[in-house]
Amino acid sequence: MAASIVKRVSRVKKLNVSHISARYKLLTGFRHFSTSKQWNKALVLGVYENESTDSIDFTGTARKFDEKADGKISQLLLTVKKPLKCGKTRTLHAVDPEFSSVLVTCIGKRGEGYDELETVDKGRESIRAAVAKAVLQLRELGENEIEVDSCGDTEASAEGCHLALFSYDDLKAEKSRKPAVRISCATRYSQDKNSMEKEWRKGAILAEGQNLSRRLMEMPANLLTPTKFAEIIKEQLADKCEVLVRDKDWAESMKMGSFLSVARGSVEPPVFLEIEYKGRQSDSPLALVGKGVTFDTGGISIKPSQGMDAMRGDMGGAACVAGSLLSVSKLQLPVHVKAFIPLCENMPSGSATKPGDVVTAMNGKTIQVDNTDAEGRLILADALCYSEQFNPSLILDMATLTGAIDVALGAGAAGVFTNSENMWNKLQKASVRSGDRVWRMPLFNHYTKKITECQLADLNNIGGSRSGGACTAAAFLKEFVNNKNWLHLDIAGVMSNSGDVAYLGKGMSGRPTRTVIEFINLMSKETKN
Ligand code: BES
Ligand code: ZN
Ligand code: ZN
Repeated sequence: MAASIVKRVSRVKKLNVSHISARYKLLTGFRHFSTSKQWNKALVLGVYENESTDSIDFTGTARKFDEKADGKISQLLLTVKKPLKCGKTRTLHAVDPEFSSVLVTCIGKRGEGYDELETVDKGRESIRAAVAKAVLQLRELGENEIEVDSCGDTEASAEGCHLALFSYDDLKAEKSRKPAVRISCATRYSQDKNSMEKEWRKGAILAEGQNLSRRLMEMPANLLTPTKFAEIIKEQLADKCEVLVRDKDWAESMKMGSFLSVARGSVEPPVFLEIEYKGRQSDSPLALVGKGVTFDTGGISIKPSQGMDAMRGDMGGAACVAGSLLSVSKLQLPVHVKAFIPLCENMPSGSATKPGDVVTAMNGKTIQVDNTDAEGRLILADALCYSEQFNPSLILDMATLTGAIDVALGAGAAGVFTNSENMWNKLQKASVRSGDRVWRMPLFNHYTKKITECQLADLNNIGGSRSGGACTAAAFLKEFVNNKNWLHLDIAGVMSNSGDVAYLGKGMSGRPTRTVIEFINLMSKETKN
């Protein structure tokens, strides 16, 4: 174990910066393909779950392909008695001269849709999972060009494969990296190829946004410092958005004492990113705010060392804001968005904030910092105050804020605290489409009392007891917001995937990027944004 860690560290040292950034460029977009390469083509076809042992319930594309192949696919599938169940696959070879493999994947029962208890569109989720499994199996077989059945929902199919094929192996040797795979939509039997291609592109862009979030979250904190985060965002977004990189002096001039109190323990300088996407003229933008703690040790209230490496993902809120902006701008949504990302490390040192210290936020409120590990709310306090200056029509913040939200909801859903029933309904609607769920949590005065009972200052940065930790954190943020349409998403529970979401590999999840993109898409249909 120790030996393998040493090996990794020495490899990282050997990589020079230009080498690493060349890899970013390659891997943050879709991979390049050499034209001289021998392509092994495969096809993914969908079938619905069907009890019958003498007929196959194909999707439209699959039925036409079977007809063209003189019923060979159905014959082969029916040679075994057991019908395919949802999520199961059969791989056939040498059934068509064009494809070395034809993989049949079961997308569940025909006509499945919104499930009220699960608050998810089951049909779309089954498609994502079924095509994800299919393309991964084909990659395993060495196939590198895969045509995928739209399965009746082209966008969901595109999302499933593009999310499944993501892997963060930028820092590994070539031979240990996952091979590149080219995927496309099987439009050959479609009546309206153009609209199918358009939907496929939308799904691919949604996945691309989430994959950027995942990549940023997965990157080790020695490589993804606040400064490097800003550089990558400039690279990724500069041609579509205005990106302003503010430094420590700027934050001081803005009186962001709460944000700076977290940054002061680290030798890495803090950065405050301000990004604007103007897909339409408006003087009331949608404001996005993301927690960007590039590493959270806990500071002087230091965390236990076991599992601390996961705290490289504590900039998940910032990453999801960046991923959302990438997709929103690529889709050219007619909407005005402004994003605010405070970035810093939370480190213990001789210059770090100490428990009991009192700091002053941008709005003049004083905060007694009784636990330096509750740093996310401190950096968000100033970012939320600052965002209010731009007359936003709504403020949505995302933060890997509390372990308590993980205890409450696990990876089942992001916790949402909002003062607006209307915003809640819209966000939930968006999440039903994306399959990346949200669950509403309370903003009761009960929790506000816990953080306003404070010995030395206006507010305490912790609630006094462990009970309702996610709610007291949200109540703290509420003290820095006046906007009537505020949504706070605590995404600590959904930060990483350990197998819960079938179409996301293990590791940092990039959740709930696609939900937020869908939400912005919904909001773009309202005139005032
Ligand atoms: N970054 C953590 C929260 C977190 C936990 C994110 C697990 C992802 C996975 C946050 O800064 C933190 O440490 N919160 C404390 C707050 C407590 C001291 C009041 C927590 O949740 O324990
Ligand atoms: Zn912390
Ligand atoms: Zn944190």
